Amino acid sequence: MAEEKKILYSGMQATGSLTLGNYLGALRNWINLNEEYECFFGVMDMHSITVRQNPTEFRQRARDLFALYVAAGLDPEKNCIYFQSHVSSHAELSWILNCYTYMGELNRMTQFKDKSAKHADNINAGLYTYPVLMAADILLYQADLVPVGKDQLQHLEITRDIAQRFNGIYGDVFTIPEAYTGKIGARVMSLQDPARKMSKSDENPNASIFLMDDGNVIRKKFKRAVTDSEAEVRYDVANKPGISNLMDIYSATTGKTLEEIEREFAGCGYGDFKGAVGDAVADLLTPLQERFAELKKDKEYIDRVIRANDEKAFYASQKTLRKVKKKIGFTEIIRC
Ligand code: TYM
Repeated sequence: MAEEKKILYSGMQATGSLTLGNYLGALRNWINLNEEYECFFGVMDMHSITVRQNPTEFRQRARDLFALYVAAGLDPEKNCIYFQSHVSSHAELSWILNCYTYMGELNRMTQFKDKSAKHADNINAGLYTYPVLMAADILLYQADLVPVGKDQLQHLEITRDIAQRFNGIYGDVFTIPEAYTGKIGARVMSLQDPARKMSKSDENPNASIFLMDDGNVIRKKFKRAVTDSEAEVRYDVANKPGISNLMDIYSATTGKTLEEIEREFAGCGYGDFKGAVGDAVADLLTPLQERFAELKKDKEYIDRVIRANDEKAFYASQKTLRKVKKKIGFTEIIRC
């Protein structure tokens, strides 16, 4: 009998346009790992509403994100790709887990602190309990592995703590998930301020490479990237954060090691190196953009896979949710 595959779970928020950080930190690893695992990938639209969204744009963004997962190479017949808001189990388990999570734990979350500073006029309770919904996402599917960028590691830690606490009370209900971050690309930094991570919501458009940026725009953004006054392509995060970030990006896109890159550009100025990084990233993204444009035209296909995968996700998640409710002592539902 074939051995059962372990379970992989991950997702992205359906807000803003995805960046090279999302791709190198997460999506690329999903693709590399997806044959080995049984995979669930969520379009995290419930997380997105912790920040106000324009309904029309939001609906389109969520569908685009779904199509982008597929365009990037995730086969929706083999991977369960679905919308978080289509599977009510997420909201239900999230409420339950809220009652097993301490305020002190949530108070320590750096993302909450960052987001509340950024959206001072809308510090809502959803922003605060965001990590609990994320824990529910992961635990519902009994995930073994969760590939994410470094900025999500704290959320993975709290997920493990909540799961261990729950299991400690009720027995082995949840699998304790492991985080997975790639060796390179787990924290892609801003091109304009290499002390900050590259982010969808950066106000400076030159700070981020968006996955749908045209090749020429990509090359221009790399040409303008902030570096230093030396002219030596050398990896030194403390003293040369800009160049080190570009080296990470080049390494992640070409597969070359940092030593190989230093050798390749020894004696060259930054201009040549920045040009090579721009070309490599543009070459990486062009096929993705073409496939995405094709898929967007095929509404029928997208609708069909959405329907099939929503059902699959619902079925898988309900299995855990039923067990949780029974363990807690909720009365059984009797329907005629
Ligand atoms: P989100 O939507 O902010 O980001 C999606 C993924 O991209 C990674 N990432 C980066 N990696 C490297 N460098 C960067 N500059 C960079 N920017 C973003 C993130 O680490 C993430 O892996 N809370 C999550 C979404 C989520 C989720 C989940 C993830 C909700 N439920 C369950 C995993 C499992 C988020 O906001 O990711």
